[in-house]
Amino acid sequence: MDEGRIEITTEDGAGYRFEVADDGRLHQTGFGIRPSWGDGLPLSVFPLALPTWGEGLTRAPALRVTHHGGDPLTRLTFAGHERSVHRGGLAHTVRLRDEARGLEVSLGFRTWDGDGVIEQWTEVHNGEGGPITVYELAAAAPAWWGIDAWLTHHGGGWAEEWQTHEERLIPGTKLLQSWGGVRPHLQVNPFFLLSFGDPSTELAGEVLAGALAWGGNVRMAFELGNPMGQLRALCGWNPVGSEVVVEAGDTLRSPTMVWAWSASGRAQTSHRLHRWICANSVRDGDRPRPVVMNNWEATFFGFDQQKLVSMMDDAADLGAELFLLDDGWFGDRHPRDNDDAGLGDWMVDRRKLPGGIGALAAAAEERGIRFGLWVEPEMVNPRSELYEAHPDWVVHQPGRDRREERQQLVLDLCRPEVREFVVDTIGGLLDAHPGISYLKWDANRDVSEPGSPALPADRQSGYWVELARATQEVMSEVATRWPDVELMLCASGGGRVDLQSLRWFHEVWTSDNTDPVDRVLMQWAASHFLPARVLGAHVTRWGERPVEFGCAVAMSARFGFDLDTAGLSDQERQVCRAAVEVYLAHRDLVQDGDLHRLVSPWRVGAVTSKDGEAARTGSAALSYSSPDRRRSIVFAYQLDEPGGATPAAVPLRGLDPELTYEVRRVEPGGPDEVATATGADLMDRGLDWPLTAPVTAAIWSVTVTA
Ligand code: GLA
Repeated sequence: MDEGRIEITTEDGAGYRFEVADDGRLHQTGFGIRPSWGDGLPLSVFPLALPTWGEGLTRAPALRVTHHGGDPLTRLTFAGHERSVHRGGLAHTVRLRDEARGLEVSLGFRTWDGDGVIEQWTEVHNGEGGPITVYELAAAAPAWWGIDAWLTHHGGGWAEEWQTHEERLIPGTKLLQSWGGVRPHLQVNPFFLLSFGDPSTELAGEVLAGALAWGGNVRMAFELGNPMGQLRALCGWNPVGSEVVVEAGDTLRSPTMVWAWSASGRAQTSHRLHRWICANSVRDGDRPRPVVMNNWEATFFGFDQQKLVSMMDDAADLGAELFLLDDGWFGDRHPRDNDDAGLGDWMVDRRKLPGGIGALAAAAEERGIRFGLWVEPEMVNPRSELYEAHPDWVVHQPGRDRREERQQLVLDLCRPEVREFVVDTIGGLLDAHPGISYLKWDANRDVSEPGSPALPADRQSGYWVELARATQEVMSEVATRWPDVELMLCASGGGRVDLQSLRWFHEVWTSDNTDPVDRVLMQWAASHFLPARVLGAHVTRWGERPVEFGCAVAMSARFGFDLDTAGLSDQERQVCRAAVEVYLAHRDLVQDGDLHRLVSPWRVGAVTSKDGEAARTGSAALSYSSPDRRRSIVFAYQLDEPGGATPAAVPLRGLDPELTYEVRRVEPGGPDEVATATGADLMDRGLDWPLTAPVTAAIWSVTVTA
């Protein structure tokens, strides 16, 4: 390899090319599927690998530092490139240095050859004589030139997570950023797709998927401008309120950015990410997730022991595997009868639950199901014993109002004693009740007065980074000390869905919005990044849809219920029972199989959820197939009144054209239909579209004949 050239690619050639110019600067000469060196052009026209404040200020910088002594400029030159082997591929450290001030910066990468994934981050090492302040530190700052790009991004708000927006990038800066520290991904989640040339489809187009592994505020900026129609992405934590003082000798590391490429549409980026996430990112990525019965939508705060035990009877009867007791089980002097009291007082409310958690866990065990509990460990109601004892433990500024949201305040995890309290309280519950094998970890408000009186003055401006780190520390401690307890990550629904937090969690609560029509669209969006086993999906009464339809939608992800089982009709009960049976018989496919998005609910290109039904095709279908292509489960949904865009058939994928398959309708309450067809037929012609009414679903089980 050429001396001054650095190639950081996976085995199929996707990744970065960098080149050192005569003046020592490091330029990015390629980023993508088959990045070229741009031979023939002077290196100076190519973007810097890491643009800094001080290198021609016509573009936003990826790194901005005020050095010890006050110099605000940084000019980096190449200082070395080391490579080593890790279990997935190569680890690269590209070292850069600001000769004038002695600042060292390194660009870290890990390639994952088999999965076609690259991880990337940036580190700043303060080799100066005293503290420096880092105002901007992007994890990644890739650039492209001379090509149209289409950005697909997601977010929305409470009950509107995973709204899809696709747009062509035009000159200027498209800024995606989130705030609030605790549940930022409600606003903007840390995943996006970039399609090049034209909008990509499932099987066509050049696509890059990006995921920022950061549990706090994120910022993804896409700046299209000169020179050369250059597009520059800056991906990292939201720099506002993340201005970090780094002491001499210390190192500041950005979050990690995860990239996956495809030359043939989105299906491949999803496969790559799913495989990689299950193997390397989400906790216990190979463990099957249970069918959950949750009581939240069924009872809200109004339950007692008898009600819960009768729900457990029903859960066991339907075939659910775990009963999850949600909010409202705790509080002594300030019982949690609604959301204005009790948070922080994690002792059982004996009025509602005289036998305590022990009796409930035992009742679950007697019924052959597991028991899980809801907690919201980062929060406190002012009406609580915890707040009465420790009013200074919340995020606040002395002499200023403490703004309540949902009648609660946020605990300041930057205080070691608060972290200790949270870990000890959760741990105490788990130690006292070994029957708890699952926790739903919720967080229901943002931080509104960022800063901590417990931190020195020069660390206030970096509070978002301090808080995100402290939160991860608590999560990691709970995950490490109680390794057998499964954790669901919830933050008012999908307010935390990042790959950093998922290291400690098994799944996310995708959204409080469980209207199955909305859920088809949300789960569709999320499936581009997160594997189905990670996406909690429960059947509820939200939207008042038929239970059959709710089941069929929830069964395509991590299945469960949140239903007042006492209110189920006999017919509905039968539907739920049958749904669990079908799900369990195919769980390995849904949770481990290869996803195929077969019929998109969105029209191609420039669609946004805000356009409502005009952007929708009205139908959707997806399937999961076994890696050996011998089995598959196919889900089809008719959302709207069938019309011109309704498909005539669903051509399948992931089968062997040479083999013959039995195709059986298996949705609860569906027709008893069995047919035989070759893999070639099923993939070329497909299954006839059987749905003629809105809010209906079909599920097929496809199995190789003996
Ligand atoms: C949040 C969660 C819900 C439920 C409630 C309980 O809104 O997203 O699923 O747990 O809190 O208060």
